[in-house]
Amino acid sequence: MSDKGKVSEVLIPIPVGRPEACDRRRFIAGASAVLAAVALSSRQAAAQDIQKVTEAQHGQSASDPGPENELLRQASPDSLLPPPTDQGEVPSFWNSFSVQHRRVQPGGWSRQVTVADFPVSKDIAGVNMRLTAGGIRELHWHDAGEWAVMLTGAVAPDGCEFLLVFDDGKFSEGNTTLISDWARHTPREVLAKNWGVPESALDGVYSVPAEGHYIFQQPVPPPLAEDQAAAAGWKGASAVAFSFPMHQMPPTFRTKSGEVRIIDSQNFPVSTPIAAAHVIVKPGGMRELHWHQNAEEWQYYIKGQGRMTVFFNGGKARTADFAAGDLGLVPRTFGHYIENTGSTYLVFLEIFKANRYMDLTLSEWMRNTPPELIMEHLRINQETLDAIPKNKAVIVPV
Ligand code: CO
Repeated sequence: MSDKGKVSEVLIPIPVGRPEACDRRRFIAGASAVLAAVALSSRQAAAQDIQKVTEAQHGQSASDPGPENELLRQASPDSLLPPPTDQGEVPSFWNSFSVQHRRVQPGGWSRQVTVADFPVSKDIAGVNMRLTAGGIRELHWHDAGEWAVMLTGAVAPDGCEFLLVFDDGKFSEGNTTLISDWARHTPREVLAKNWGVPESALDGVYSVPAEGHYIFQQPVPPPLAEDQAAAAGWKGASAVAFSFPMHQMPPTFRTKSGEVRIIDSQNFPVSTPIAAAHVIVKPGGMRELHWHQNAEEWQYYIKGQGRMTVFFNGGKARTADFAAGDLGLVPRTFGHYIENTGSTYLVFLEIFKANRYMDLTLSEWMRNTPPELIMEHLRINQETLDAIPKNKAVIVPV
């Protein structure tokens, strides 16, 4: 077989999520005056569209005499009057623990957001849980990997509240393997034989609720050292560290506008399924425009108020507002920023089903590309380009 007449091609593999540029020389050679004129008029039309939307939003066209859920409306100003740059149909990337069913039992409560509640979130399911002092989330296990962060003091006299993150959007708290559920659904004579005890000793097992305890109240446990000794058994304590003192670590990035701590398998080796960033944005600050190459981003808002625009490519973008208790989701490689829109610190978690935290910022992309190329694409001048941060800022203004 001959290669004669075959068009020669060179394939350049580009890793997922990495920026690329077409051949500029070829592009310029192929451009004509006619094309340039068409481009100019469509640019003017686009500018007029933004102007028209803005005018409509501030006139009679935006009047709203019908029924409204006032609380939701006030919480979503960027849905009511979207930035005129928002456009197109995109899936909802906002959710909130505050609108989920709370399963309350003696000893505490839980509520969850799974892919059933939040279809855009496929990698991660989240559970928010509280246990009163002495409250117990029953002994259990499950298929999904679990990552947790304490939200209120572990040693507070009134108990604690925490966030659980699972590396599977389909995970459900209602479907874990509970020790009492399993024992109760095993024939009495089998359980007696398994443990080598008389059947009469098992009355208690068959008196637990039909679906197991799940959460139940007990006295406050003994000092931690006693529990640790019991758990170590005759094999001794595990050499693997399952906890990480996040607030004791210095920020991974810090600017005058905020700070970021990154926790992944690099500094918390057991956390192979989940990578996380804890982000603090001061009033007026913003998590700069960026994207993530390796996983979708699941967000949990801890404090403050903010807004995020997710750019869905192909002319589609939407802005949503977030407050404490809310969840956000950014599909893998989609551009976004998070801006503090309140007067207090904005604090949130970025969670990824990945063993490493990865991101690329718009400024990094621009400052590692030939400058004239960027100026031609974005129609900005040298002075403007020179003012853009050369290095990853993460939180702006720097
Ligand atoms: Co992000």
